[in-house]
Amino acid sequence: MMLRFTRWYLGAECHSTMRPHDLSMSGGNSERSTHERLCAYLAASTMRAMTAILGLNAYHGDAAAALLIDGELVAAVEEERFTRIKHCAGFPAQAATWCLEEAGIGASELDHIAVSRDSRANAGHKLLWVIRHKANGRYLRTRLANAARVRDVRSTFAQALGVEPEALGAKLHHVEHHQAHVASAFFVSPFERAAVLSVDGFGDFTSMMLAQGEGSSFRVLDRVLFPHSLGMFYTALTQWLGFPKYGEEGKVMGLASYGDPCFLERMHELVHLDGDLFRLGLEYFAHEDGVDMTWDEQTPTIGRLFSDRLIETFGPPREPRSEITTQHENVAASLQAMLEEAYLHVVRMLWERTRTPNVCIAGGVALNAIANGRVLPETPFEELFIQPAAGDAGTAVGAAFWVWNQRLGKPRGFVMNHAYTGPEYSEAECASAIAGAGLESQRLDDDSLFAEIAERIARGEIVGWFQGRMEFGPRALGNRSILVDPRRAEMKDILNARVKHREPFRPFAPSILAEATAEWYEEDYPSPFMLLVYKTRPGKRERIPAVNHVDDTGRLQTVEKRVNPRYWRLINEFEKLTGVPLVLNTSFNESEPIVMTPQDAVETFTNTEMDVLVLGNHVVRRDAARDGSARAAASAGPPRR
Ligand SMILES: [Fe+2]
Repeated sequence: MMLRFTRWYLGAECHSTMRPHDLSMSGGNSERSTHERLCAYLAASTMRAMTAILGLNAYHGDAAAALLIDGELVAAVEEERFTRIKHCAGFPAQAATWCLEEAGIGASELDHIAVSRDSRANAGHKLLWVIRHKANGRYLRTRLANAARVRDVRSTFAQALGVEPEALGAKLHHVEHHQAHVASAFFVSPFERAAVLSVDGFGDFTSMMLAQGEGSSFRVLDRVLFPHSLGMFYTALTQWLGFPKYGEEGKVMGLASYGDPCFLERMHELVHLDGDLFRLGLEYFAHEDGVDMTWDEQTPTIGRLFSDRLIETFGPPREPRSEITTQHENVAASLQAMLEEAYLHVVRMLWERTRTPNVCIAGGVALNAIANGRVLPETPFEELFIQPAAGDAGTAVGAAFWVWNQRLGKPRGFVMNHAYTGPEYSEAECASAIAGAGLESQRLDDDSLFAEIAERIARGEIVGWFQGRMEFGPRALGNRSILVDPRRAEMKDILNARVKHREPFRPFAPSILAEATAEWYEEDYPSPFMLLVYKTRPGKRERIPAVNHVDDTGRLQTVEKRVNPRYWRLINEFEKLTGVPLVLNTSFNESEPIVMTPQDAVETFTNTEMDVLVLGNHVVRRDAARDGSARAAASAGPPRR
């Protein structure tokens, strides 16, 4: 793309000597908007060619788009945030459209489009499987139709953006699913050299990839092929435990803490670690003859993955929403223990093969924060990087970087040190959304805002906190968050009753000032994306009962001032009031995708019983007459320090 940006940036007043990396350094909460930062970067780059790469995760759960300009990630977002359908599959048309609008470029100005699927990958293994298993016609037709849709992504993309396919000059790349995961972890990591592990259910006939990255490329060391999969192991047992929906594995991770892993020995019949990596005891599973997956335009679904042998072993599967028994808790604990054992086994094998101090991990299983939290303390690796969208949404980023680094051989220079790559909204848009709902608000300057909101949290109120650019990945990290006082044990139930309506066994997580981590938790390695679980220190546990899980752990987010100065400042104000440098942070939603727009936030505020809504500097306070329960809880005063 040569000089095509010039037309765009000349329309704005922007003068800067900014470096490309500056685009990604702050959390979208600085005074300059994304447009202004991008504008400044482009102005500094007027006379040289630039490369625009759009990465897509399409026809797969968590469809997403990401845009790279000259190797800098300028936008990344999941399709579910636009459609409001959780884990939305299909083609990420709205996400891709927004990425281009954010950069101010047209579809015809893209140089490359990269899709994180390659139906030709591992073709020989697939063919052998079809012959051996005499795959049925309906199953084959479904898979072939999906492969054809992935191959035809150019015309779908053109149609979605309202341009003729011939107008798209971009070169189309199909990147093997796990290579996109590997790229998503290594190329945006701070490491020059690292071991890389990708681990999920399945993608392009593979469930695990081991790789070694150095500079601008990586080489694949090993693969685990279908039907063996740690992701499928976890999902099958998650189904048996009565959570059949796509993406419910995290609930089981929370449930596991209540049980005793007394079935761990039996779990070794389901996952064998006696080889180099692992293999499944396939008699306990039902996916060997084909996984019944539907990647429709809406909600992804997966058919039953466990066999009758599993039922003979652990009893009848739990009906969704029925009582959870001790047996269920113990199976969940044993499942989690087996997953952790296998995960650490594979990570150690990876270290043996690479002997490098750094490791990057990606894939759906990399969202298992308890297993992640054990990697550094219990393996020889010294440094760990897991990017915020470690699941399939992140393959949009990985596919794009695969083209930039692995294919084009460009040098690396971008580090994904925050997740704030989504849309942001102006003050006027926030004020308009509030007024449109007939609500009254007050605009506070920063000094008043942080002091008042910290004080309201300390008083026991539920605060909807909406700032800057939306997070990419499954976690709200202080820009689309609901915040409450972690010192109040009752806040978990109040939050569930009035806003979240989650299962009571699921823990809530803390956001802590990064510099205070060692004082409150037994590990202090940074956990900026809420993907590591650590033990809470004895002596601190009773002070933060709302975020101290039943096994005395927390899935924490460590907040650095340079990454998200506004969120850091709010927590710091809370610490000044209470002596506690952390808040309870849960995603800003009510059983739907995390809110994206000010309108989404206002709607969630009015449909639930939050006390306060903060959109930028605009504060909406709920009528005192309608928030009796929190006031009643608050009237007891703050817990003793
Ligand atoms: Fe994946």
